[in-house]
Amino acid sequence: MRKQLKLGTMIHGAGEKISDWRHPAMPADASVSFDFYKQQAQTSERGKFDFVFIADALYINEKSNPHYLNRFEPLTILSALAAVTSNIGLVSTLSTTYSEPFSAARQFASLDMLSGGRAGWNVVTSGLEKTALNFSKQLDDHPSHAERYRMAAEFVHVMKGLWNSWEDDAFVRDKESGQFFDPAKLHTLNHQGEFFSVQGPLNIGRSPQGQPVIFQAGSSKDGIAFSAQQADAVFAIMPRIEEATQYYKNVKEQAHLSGREPSDVLVLQGISPIIGETAEDAERKYQELASLVTTEQALAFLGRLFEHHDFSQYPLDEPFPDIGTIGKNSFQSDTDRIKRASLKENLSLRQVALREATPRTPFMGTPEHVANLIESWYQQHAADGFMIIANLPSELEAFVDRVVPILQTRGIFRAEYEGSTLRDHLELPYVAKQQSVER
Ligand SMILES: Cc1cc2nc3c(=O)[nH]c(=O)nc-3n(C[C@H](O)[C@H](O)[C@H](O)COP(=O)(O)O)c2cc1C
Repeated sequence: MRKQLKLGTMIHGAGEKISDWRHPAMPADASVSFDFYKQQAQTSERGKFDFVFIADALYINEKSNPHYLNRFEPLTILSALAAVTSNIGLVSTLSTTYSEPFSAARQFASLDMLSGGRAGWNVVTSGLEKTALNFSKQLDDHPSHAERYRMAAEFVHVMKGLWNSWEDDAFVRDKESGQFFDPAKLHTLNHQGEFFSVQGPLNIGRSPQGQPVIFQAGSSKDGIAFSAQQADAVFAIMPRIEEATQYYKNVKEQAHLSGREPSDVLVLQGISPIIGETAEDAERKYQELASLVTTEQALAFLGRLFEHHDFSQYPLDEPFPDIGTIGKNSFQSDTDRIKRASLKENLSLRQVALREATPRTPFMGTPEHVANLIESWYQQHAADGFMIIANLPSELEAFVDRVVPILQTRGIFRAEYEGSTLRDHLELPYVAKQQSVER
């Protein structure tokens, strides 16, 4: 267990939920408003959070969540946020299925360098098969779930190799002698693998963290195996403590089986707290948000997880339809969970869609209630920390102003930043240069 609880914010423009943008307190253009992103990052930094996180995907259609239709590219917005923040970590999603490791290694090393060591990378394998159509490929070319994770492992291996191109003190820049760099401290990767062939070296030096922090969020069997071997931190969203504790144990055990310390992988649960003066007040706020979502929108929200499957073709109040293996090759852990729960609880399609589009959270109530729950999940090894996915900007403010001080008073969250890099905040070591194994 870490010395202290970890906290992050997912800055998600006009909302993770399909109708949050309609709420009077949400700027409808938030997804492309620099002011909005700046405010969210600065509020999180005021709360002494470890990081902000920007999610991403690479395919939309007209039924997509409004936030997905018109949003900033994550590394671009994080580079701008680096200039208006000083301490907070800056974590970006990047797809290993639809990117090139050389460009990606360069982008993250640049963000790490210009932010003074605050960069993190959320490795995603891109669940939406139609993404292929945006990358000069055919639908059939979208790799299978298992292959995507194999690609991800090789991609990370290449990234790490490229980040090792230059030793810390490789650039001597001696004006007198005219020596700019020390050739002995330059390492060329020469990688030839199943998916990637990359010579290197990278055209940017070693960044302040040695390597940006690696996050991952897939919780299928392949996803957890990948995290256990490669990730410094994993994201999940699990509303019940029993499930979260089981997942925590699984990730830590698998990290151990992969030859790492269980504490080498942090488990961070995503939560959307709703804070009120009383429990009734919080319930009222939840109902207000939930009432913005129509059944049609809820079906579209659900459909995206299943490769944009059209659920409007089925009767709403009959049991969740048997759709065979649809969704297995997409966001697997989500689609498996939904199919399992609908069978077990005998849910109708309407119930499943509304549950997904307007989920209730246990982290709902007074600031003390939310702080108590966070503390108890942390103490009971359900999470090493939490990522706040606020439904509205006012909920992030309320969390920072009213819940964080309680966690600080209880000594489980920092009152001040103690280090300057994201690795410092997360209590992860600097990654020293390893000798390149490839020649
Ligand atoms: C907190 C959180 C953030 C995520 N962010 C992204 C993201 O930015 N882009 C993306 O394509 N998937 C994202 N995902 C989805 C995961 O990367 C993954 O595809 C999904 O959980 C299914 O993984 P699985 O196939 O291993 O089950 C996120 C998931 C969680 C829980």
